[in-house]
Amino acid sequence: MGLRKDFLWGGATAANQLEGGYAEDGRGLANVDVIPIGEDRGPIRNGDRKHLDFDDEHFYPAKEGIDHYHRYKEDIALFGEMGFKTYRLSIAWSRIFPKGDEEEPNEAGLKFYEDLFQECHKHGIEPLVTITHFDCPIHLIKEYGGWRNRKTIDFYENLTRTLFTRYKGLVKYWLTFNEINVILHAPFMGAGLVFEEGENKKQVIYQAAHHELLASALATKIAHEVDPDIQVGCMLAAGKYYPETPNPRDVLAAQQADRRNYFFIDVQSRGEYPAYALKELEREGIEIPFEEGDKELLKEHTVDFISFSYYSNRVASGDPESKDQAEGNVIRSVKNPYLKASEWGWQIDPLGLRITMNDIYDRYQKPLFIVENGLGAVDHPDENGYVEDDYRIDYLASHIEAMKDAVELDGVDLMGYTTWGCIDLVSAGTGEMKKRYGFIYVDRDNYGNGTLDRTPKKSFDWYKKVIETNGKDLSKD
Ligand code: BG6
Repeated sequence: MGLRKDFLWGGATAANQLEGGYAEDGRGLANVDVIPIGEDRGPIRNGDRKHLDFDDEHFYPAKEGIDHYHRYKEDIALFGEMGFKTYRLSIAWSRIFPKGDEEEPNEAGLKFYEDLFQECHKHGIEPLVTITHFDCPIHLIKEYGGWRNRKTIDFYENLTRTLFTRYKGLVKYWLTFNEINVILHAPFMGAGLVFEEGENKKQVIYQAAHHELLASALATKIAHEVDPDIQVGCMLAAGKYYPETPNPRDVLAAQQADRRNYFFIDVQSRGEYPAYALKELEREGIEIPFEEGDKELLKEHTVDFISFSYYSNRVASGDPESKDQAEGNVIRSVKNPYLKASEWGWQIDPLGLRITMNDIYDRYQKPLFIVENGLGAVDHPDENGYVEDDYRIDYLASHIEAMKDAVELDGVDLMGYTTWGCIDLVSAGTGEMKKRYGFIYVDRDNYGNGTLDRTPKKSFDWYKKVIETNGKDLSKD
């Protein structure tokens, strides 16, 4: 009983939220670079406003991030000190293929990640790599319309073949698309969709999703051909829907809301479009652009494991009257009166993690990997930059407790757990630095001021102990 002996404890980040160095060593511009901090962020992420370059009015936090591009050795050494077994990071596509459609990759970009992976191994850390974490080269958006275009599959194929071949032996765990279901809510992120006036958005979204699903299956195929030891996972922004009441109308609403998210994983893990989705899309007149061979590709190359982010469960109501809404990672839902919330209004539901794990494991019967979980909070460093973040420890301890219950009491097969933003980084939702998740404080504010010095917080030593005891000791002092 207990967690696996080789349980993969660690932390997670994404290129555009920490690397910076946006124009260095031949890197091309990506959608994630041109999303500014501030109110304009929402409509841009939704694809409602075209924004494909920088302007003087806005501040663009991804340009410098936390300068991980130049400080990754220092950061990885700190992860090593905490005892990380794994480090989840993402590749910036436009470092490898600056425009996205080149035939030959940019050697400087490839070399950067090769050095970084080697640095991880030096500290006994196994990299877990997301191929795209919300990024898409701007050129692919301007020339081809991002993932709405089937040609993007070829470019992604070239990217993944390059990565698997070059990093054979250095990287064993790969994720194809971060939070693939987020395309439903923020389609400029990842999919690079910008809508034309009057366009049927849902049609474009499901068309782009079909292309991503095919690309994911193709990547899985290539990975296994290049190296049978590679394991490929899908990645879901998880969080089960509770019905608002036992009224069957609410129960059905919750089931339907769950299906909208599970749809993606159903295809990636079971290898076919589920009947409920085909029916719904048909009813709405949405056409999935199936071509010859698509069904076979999806069926034959399903993922090896299911990874997901978990911040909170959600609530669905069948009542058409609008309800009090709670914030969440891209997906908003009806407020749950039984839960407290973070400073950003994200509800906190540790038991919900166990419920979600059981739900996903029941559905797919494949190993699970929690690749994001954490609390975004305002930290108050003392004069030495030290933060006593008991609130973060409490949050993580309660979630790890629930995670252990899912494994020990319910029998879920879990590969590992990586907390989100193990070092403070730029928020994907708001673009702020103020919203911190890390075990390591980074001296930088929302508008780029600060020394960028790194200082371990109280949670740093706590997490070190959690890892050392394989999750047995979660006590604070
Ligand atoms: C997840 C994303 O949805 O939530 C991350 O994969 C993101 O990129 C994380 O940072 C936390 O969200 P936020 O908005 O607090 O940064």
